[in-house]
Amino acid sequence: MELDGAAAIVTGGASGLGKATARALLDGGASVVLIDLPGPRGEEAVAELGEGATFMAADVANEAEVQAAIDVATAIAPLRVAVNCAGIVTANRTVGRDGPAPLEAFERTIRVNLIGTFNVARLAAATMAQQEPAVGRVPGGPDTSERGVIVNTASVAAFDGQIGQAAYSASKAAVAGMTLPIARDLSKLLIRVVTIAPGIFETPMMAGMPDEVRHSLEEQVPHPSRLGHPAEYAALVRSIVANPMLNGETIRLDGAIRMQPK
Ligand SMILES: NC(=O)c1ccc[n+]([C@@H]2O[C@H](COP(=O)([O-])OP(=O)(O)OC[C@H]3O[C@@H](n4cnc5c(N)ncnc54)[C@H](O)[C@@H]3O)[C@@H](O)[C@H]2O)c1
Repeated sequence: MELDGAAAIVTGGASGLGKATARALLDGGASVVLIDLPGPRGEEAVAELGEGATFMAADVANEAEVQAAIDVATAIAPLRVAVNCAGIVTANRTVGRDGPAPLEAFERTIRVNLIGTFNVARLAAATMAQQEPAVGRVPGGPDTSERGVIVNTASVAAFDGQIGQAAYSASKAAVAGMTLPIARDLSKLLIRVVTIAPGIFETPMMAGMPDEVRHSLEEQVPHPSRLGHPAEYAALVRSIVANPMLNGETIRLDGAIRMQPK
């Protein structure tokens, strides 16, 4: 899928992996609407990213707010790319010192990470479905007719959840699990769906961890033995968008880490 002359939406675009993705899509020639919670960080990110970036405040789980952001994107150019980076992390043991894990935190995690991802995917796909197909091609490869690409973000916690991660792992495993059925649903519409399962990346979500925790996490990554950089996540998004054969799959991006129980 060509980015030049296309519009993209990136949820969680005011921070971390989403902001790096927005930068990479802008570099590729797309106009990008950042979707994130209300607050100054959205406009700050737009100022940092420069021309081609727009901010729309929205909760990813809110139908009307996400639709309004998609409408802003399609007013600029055909919507070809939707990247789901919005997410929250919660940690509660199933039974902790204060008793059973709070159900409210479990529900909130599922609402943002899973329902929010599906909400954005379904609304973006419905808009893409109304557009004329474009040509996707890698250098030397054949032309492929496609309408759009949806990229979701799971986590390695979808597969190797740690102590306290029941809610987070459930939400991310569900994102990985719905990737193939959504790709099948949207295949006739010429829309691809791919999920990235990152290992540990250096973003505000992970900032503030003590040095010894960081060091221990880095040591758990076989190679390269460090945290991932948001630009490396964004580069994979670009590859997914560019390659018409990538579809219906969850790709680990993790330096071969397999998370230990804690
Ligand atoms: N950083 C990592 O190590 C790591 C690893 C695996 C997976 N992930 C996943 O990658 C994604 C991006 O994480 P990040 O590290 O960039 O985190 P981050 O905290 O830097 O960014 C997440 C963004 O999502 C936004 N957001 C949260 N709830 C929202 C909602 N309801 N509606 C709209 N926006 C909302 C936040 O405001 C924030 O700007 C998340 O889904 C996270 O679970 C991150």
